[in-house]
Order: sequence, then C-alpha cells, then structure tokens
Amino acid sequence: MDEITRDVVVIGAGAAGLTAANDLRKAGLSVVVLEARDRVGGRLWTDVVEGAMLELGGQWVSPDQQALIDTVADLGLSTYSRYREGDSVYVGPDGEAKRFTGEMFPVAPETERAIDEITARLDAMVAEIDPDKPWEHPNAAEWDTISWDAWLRAQTDDDEAVRNLAFATGSAMLTKPTHTFSLLQSLLMAASAGSYSHLVDADFILDKRVVGGLQQVPELLAERLGDDVLLNQPVRRIVWGPESAAADRPADAVTGRRVDDLRALTARVEAAKSSTGVTVTTDDVTVRARFAILALAPVLYPRISFDPPLPRLQHQMHQHISMGFVIKVHAVYDRPFWREQGLSGTAFSPYELSHEAYDNTNHGDERGTLVGFVSDQNADDLFRVSAEERKERILESLSHYYGPEAKNPVVYYESDWGSEEWTRGAYAASFDLGGLQRYGADLREPVGPLHLACSDMAGAGYQHVDGAIRQGHRAADEILERARG
Ligand code: FDA
Repeated sequence: MDEITRDVVVIGAGAAGLTAANDLRKAGLSVVVLEARDRVGGRLWTDVVEGAMLELGGQWVSPDQQALIDTVADLGLSTYSRYREGDSVYVGPDGEAKRFTGEMFPVAPETERAIDEITARLDAMVAEIDPDKPWEHPNAAEWDTISWDAWLRAQTDDDEAVRNLAFATGSAMLTKPTHTFSLLQSLLMAASAGSYSHLVDADFILDKRVVGGLQQVPELLAERLGDDVLLNQPVRRIVWGPESAAADRPADAVTGRRVDDLRALTARVEAAKSSTGVTVTTDDVTVRARFAILALAPVLYPRISFDPPLPRLQHQMHQHISMGFVIKVHAVYDRPFWREQGLSGTAFSPYELSHEAYDNTNHGDERGTLVGFVSDQNADDLFRVSAEERKERILESLSHYYGPEAKNPVVYYESDWGSEEWTRGAYAASFDLGGLQRYGADLREPVGPLHLACSDMAGAGYQHVDGAIRQGHRAADEILERARG
C-alpha cells in the first residue's frame, strides 16, 4: 500500500474535482486526485465508436454558462454552433410530423395560448428564485409539496399544453417522471439556466459544442496536474476528524450496537465535525491530508465507508436524492440526409419514444450524426426488451421525424449511464418531493474536513458542466479560506 501526504485529497476526476484541484494547486497547496475509473472526465466522455467520434456524455455549452466558457477559453479550446438551418419537426398526438420554425410548436391556437400564458407565469416565478438558494423563496415550502405534473394540470386542462410544458424540465432535464419531483425543483432547473424560456429554447441551451469534444476540458485540466491524478483508485474508506492520524484500526471498531457505543459514536462524529484531518484509502493507496473534496455525485457517497459515519442529517438527506435516467442515442449516416429535405435536425414530441433529437454532426465531418434521447419510464421500459428490439424501436421513433432513411445508420450506439458503476444514471441527481426545501440548504455544506463539489449540487449551472466547474471553484475557495485562517 503506497502512502501519500498532501494538503488536500480530491475524490473524483470529473470537471468539479479537477477544477478544484487546479485552483488549490495554483494557490500553493499540494493535492492528489483519486479517480475510480481508468479515465478522467466522469460524465464527460468523448470516444470513437466504429470510426465515429461520439460525445457519450455531456457536450453542449450555452451562452449563460460563463464558468465553462471561461475554462474552455483558458484551455485554448474552440467551439462551433449546433447545426440549425431549416425547419424543425414536431409530432403531435395524431402522430403526424409537422414542420415549424421558431420556438412555438405547431399546435392548435388554444394550446398555443395556454403554453404562452403558463410560460409567462413560470418566467415570473423563476425570476423571483435565486438558483443558489431556491429554498429561501417565501413559497418554497408550498412549491416543494406539489408535483410538477399536478401544478401544470392545475393551470390548464389542455393535455397537449401540459405535456409540452412538462417535458422541458421533465424528460429533457431532470429525466424523471413529472409526478416524482416538485414544482420548486422544476423552477430551480429553469432558474439555473436564467429562465424557463431559456430552458425550452434549444438554440440557447444547446448552443455550442467544443471542437474535438468536451472531454478535453477534464483531460487538459488533468494534464496540468500531471502525476497527481491517480486512475483506477476507487476510494473505499475515509477516516475523518481527530482519529484520521491513526487510521489503521479496523473500520468496524465501534459498532454502535449498544447504547454506550452509540453515545460514543455520536461524540466521535461531533468531534470530527469541528476538526481537520482525513485518511483516505483505495485498494492501493493511503492518502493523509488536512482536507478532502468529495467531487462525486452525492448518490455515490454511500459507496464509501466513512469512519466515523457521516452525521445523521447527511444520512437522511442523501436518501432523498436520486439520479434521473436517460439513454443518449447516437445514429451516424453516410451524409446528413435530413438537411437535403430542408430540415435542421431539431425535433420534439412528448408523444414519441425519443422525445427530442438534434443534428449532432461533428465539426468538419462529411458524415451526418443524429442524437436522440429516451428518458425516464420510456428508458426503463426499453431496457426490458432485447438490444435488437430496443434499437429497432428507437430508430422507428427517429424515422417519425426524419423519414425512413433514419432507420439505417452506419453506426448506432446507446450511451447507458445507468449501468456505469461510478455514475448510476443521467444526467444528474435531484431531490424527491419536498426534499429540496427540507435539505437543499445543507447539501453543499462541508462536514468537518470534508468539502463537497458536484454539478448535482449547483445553483447556476445545475446538472451541467458549468455547475460542476462553479462548485469546484467554491469548494477550493472554502478550503483556501480555512487553510489561511
Ligand atoms: P462527474 O460524475 O462527472 O465526476 C465524478 C467523478 O467521480 C467520476 O469521474 C467518477 O468516476 C468519480 N468517482 C465516483 N465515485 C468514486 C470513488 N468512490 N472514488 C473515486 N472516484 C469516484 N452537461 C452539459 O453542460 N451539457 C450537456 O450537453 C450535457 N449532456 C449530458 C449528457 C449525458 C448523457 C450525461 C450523462 C450528462 C450530461 N451533462 C451535460 C451533465 C454533465 O456531464 C455533468 O453535470 C458533469 O459532467 C458532472 O461533473 P462532476 O464533476 O460534477 O461529476
């Protein structure tokens, strides 16, 4: 077992962890980053599949994502716009594909009116919300106890309007069924992008891509850290607080089975909360440090054995956060055939298996790529059928937007983050009904020497790379303040 001593140990080499590690290193602290996987990037993964470069994870950059834009510029990367010339396609309840331009779907005038009115109502509510503290809004408790679906259905009885409004934060963002999360959680999602209107505007939220792939961001950040990024090092155990200096005792020395043991355990947790010092172990390495940053999705904290255990608040809170789930589908064709029909590639339907799809052709590539998304319950259902049937059904859905040629890609790939041990879902995590107002304020609070950073706890940039970077900067700042104090 190798032994390492550093000022700070960072757990997770995603955008959040690598941002924090770079900030700390620049400020003169020594760091090491421990990464479970055999690559850096976490939910950013640019790979070549059967000769096609694909963005298997995050890829788009929007104009409000200043932290990401700054990092992309700092790393010398360049961006290009998503292809958007021509008509978009909408499939309504009658199953007919209709072309349209602009932001409003081609729906009946009364449905359009309902969508417009409710969008204006939502924009006004979102404008009152601080994405970093949505729980502070005077109506937060009320808005966190009603589901997104129930609130929308209370605004109108136009089902098509409800479905179209719902999917912007549902299937397309939180990737959970809309009855499982609250209005407040939905407002946070919109506030994190500036407004509800921003979120539904594909030209805004899915504006640019990075030439060569977004995984270059974590790769270049890791390059700056050199040998201080260790791959294939899943962290198994963290001893924190005063006892971390002598962390060689067995993990289960205090079982908490007897009342006295339980009292002793609670006292140890309290002592650890007001101290510094951590000992972090993987299968190969022991790191002793003053502080740790947990830069992994909070749903994965229970994979690590904490000694003493985390406080009861964290134990409770972490059971109220869960990952959404979406399959990102990549279909590559010998040419972008839809452009010949005057189509932009942008397609939506709350009635289709693939509720949204886009032209995802790489910069300078002659071949054409479509990307489609299958979310929440639809994604669960598809993983109950064979791979062949899944592919057939997804391509059938894409053909409803682009015609029969969509059924014959030369490369086809499904990103399935639900089966990735070190992520367990996509895109990110959110609270269940009532959880945001009950626990949100505590989610990113440090626990003793343990600081926390992840896109899943961001305000601005929530569930996005931008949020991960912002949270990495914040966690580094917290530690620098304590280290200097
Ligand atoms: P992230 O999960 O990336 O990193 C955490 C790291 O911790 C991982 O590398 C993991 O392996 C590691 N880890 C976990 N447990 C560990 C342990 N016990 N020990 C050591 N290491 C451990 N965003 C965006 O801005 N634009 C977009 O277009 C998209 N699209 C998109 C598509 C898909 C399919 C996905 C899955 C995600 C997106 N996103 C996105 C979201 C974006 O990718 C995501 O929010 C950030 O990359 C998350 O970065 P973090 O560093 O916070 O976590």
